[in-house]
Amino acid sequence: MLYEPRPELTETKPVPGFAQRVFSGIQPTGNLHLGNYLGAIVKFVQLQQSFPCIYCVVDLHAITMPQEPAELQQSIREVTAAFLAAGIDPVKHIVFNQSRVHEHAELAWVFNCIARLGWLNRMTQFKDKAGKDRENASLGLYAYPSLMAADILVYRATHVPVGEDQKQHLELTRDVAQKFNNDYSGRIADLGFGAGYFPLPEPVIQGPATRVMSLRDGSKKMSKSDPSDYSRINLSDDSDTIAQKFRKAKTDPEPLPSEEKGLESRPEAENLVGIYAALSGRSRAELLAEFGGGQFSAFKQALTDLAVDKLGPVGKRMKQLTADPGYIDQVLRDGAERASAIAAPIMNDVKDIVGFLR
Ligand code: AMP
Ligand code: TRP
Repeated sequence: MLYEPRPELTETKPVPGFAQRVFSGIQPTGNLHLGNYLGAIVKFVQLQQSFPCIYCVVDLHAITMPQEPAELQQSIREVTAAFLAAGIDPVKHIVFNQSRVHEHAELAWVFNCIARLGWLNRMTQFKDKAGKDRENASLGLYAYPSLMAADILVYRATHVPVGEDQKQHLELTRDVAQKFNNDYSGRIADLGFGAGYFPLPEPVIQGPATRVMSLRDGSKKMSKSDPSDYSRINLSDDSDTIAQKFRKAKTDPEPLPSEEKGLESRPEAENLVGIYAALSGRSRAELLAEFGGGQFSAFKQALTDLAVDKLGPVGKRMKQLTADPGYIDQVLRDGAERASAIAAPIMNDVKDIVGFLR
């Protein structure tokens, strides 16, 4: 067990009227980093103790931006390996790649007809990813949040662990569920599904590292797409690389404060303390009481030791797992079969509700 149970992650608000179920996804688009790990994967592992969980490698989402096919296949296996290495149990829970379960794409089409252009126009991730040349962005990138809503709702999932940056997409998912329930309310009642067919899923964003920032710039989030590899700790980095990256991490000339208030307007210091807190399970206040007044170099050394201790075994296990693609593929195939068994009857209900013949 890598982490002790953390009550703040498992005491989530139940969604009444539905079987409680967790769903989340990660895109297979390059190196997984400490932000993905602390913001998402650690929570995935924790939630297994309280809910049946479905964890998806979202390859359909990946191709909303150009991908090299052979690299995409490699990335799908790597994200799967990271899930397993971090402690996700693919037998008790479900791990699979999205494109294998066609109901995701099918429900996404129905949701494309529910979601409004105005809703999608507000999505900041689209604006960021499309950049200045919006005319040239793919239609898939624009419809991305509608597919994400389908991912979650095709299992009628009630809880979705994600980092802070996905909050807006989760709100859109709730809007889609609500509008579907309203638009078809008569039909849903006639077919005996009660007040609403879809739950309004709860985001699970709490925890000490919902937004891990770049090690080079405390105002930017740590991201797979940052051109500088020194901006992030990759799950595959070895101990020397981790040490070097923390040593070079941007800081300010002041020593660490002794109280949390002293971290205000010091984004780089705040980020490193947040990472330490998340990796150790200790509070920021406790850490500052210990390290406050001391030099950054001593704190960075302690942080490096901790990170190597926590991430080293995960990276090592990931390497072992990716050396056996046959096993990973078997996990994904088996997971997809069990995911389909849940999604298929839900998609059939949706067809009945919407008025398709089947
Ligand atoms: P992505 O890599 O965009 O597929 O993200 C996978 C998961 O990691 C999502 O739940 C994100 O919210 C989370 N995530 C990505 N970057 C960060 C970050 N810098 N800090 C915290 N969580 C993150
Ligand atoms: N959009 C998420 C991200 O970029 C990935 C994702 C796709 C997801 N479908 C999802 C997350 C469903 C949670 C639930 O990080």
